[in-house]
Amino acid sequence: MRIPFIAGNWKMNKNVEEARALVSEMIPLLEKVKGVEKVICPPFPALLPLAALLIGTDIGLGAQNMHWETSGAFTGEVAPGMVAEFCRYVIVGHSERRLHFGETDSMVNRKILAAIKAGLVPILCVGETLEENEQEKTKQVVHQQVMEGLVGVEAGSAQRMVIAYEPIWAIGTGRAASAENANDVVAHIIRPAMKELFNKQVAEGMRVLYGGSVSSGNAGEFFSQSEIDGALVGGASLRAEEFVAIVRAANRE
Ligand code: PGA
Repeated sequence: MRIPFIAGNWKMNKNVEEARALVSEMIPLLEKVKGVEKVICPPFPALLPLAALLIGTDIGLGAQNMHWETSGAFTGEVAPGMVAEFCRYVIVGHSERRLHFGETDSMVNRKILAAIKAGLVPILCVGETLEENEQEKTKQVVHQQVMEGLVGVEAGSAQRMVIAYEPIWAIGTGRAASAENANDVVAHIIRPAMKELFNKQVAEGMRVLYGGSVSSGNAGEFFSQSEIDGALVGGASLRAEEFVAIVRAANRE
């Protein structure tokens, strides 16, 4: 049984005061929903104050990025151990990182290995561009992102991590993938790649999310699919009612 998983990726939104206000509004509502792993990923400055607010709750905290080195002359970067002081999760390889900051599969792989070493649960993002989709290259692209992102990961760690399938054309566009197509990608590309890399148990046991224009209106369709275990939510995670409604939709109890 895979426990549903919903993470809110705030991206570069909300200062500390706004972050505190939003999470204070969410806490009592989210705490009522059991049976779903709930995670909030705010910008770095909000991690410390939100970690304090979330003490004693069952809501997890995640970073949106980190560097792979443990310390040193990397101006502007944050080390895995620094993230692990406040967080249990870290998003790795989001398409915006790949697109705007030149992250390659090999950099993503270094981050995944460093996150695991620091005791974090990585949320690995994969997904094809519109062009790749139209050229029917989804399988090739997503398979490669999974295989190269997870080089050197041990099966035990792989089973605990989370993969988010986020077709780039669906992110922030209001144009979500169809639930059936997303389910097919997970069933026929992502889980088979995990089986190839690890084994059947890992492939069937790990959580795979959908991300890209998830809202309270379409969340239920995704969560009713057999292979989709939750969502990585961008825009809709910035409003308490909307995010909580998505978390509620993931609850199978
Ligand atoms: P979106 O973003 O829900 O705003 O489309 C998803 C993501 O980028 O993780």
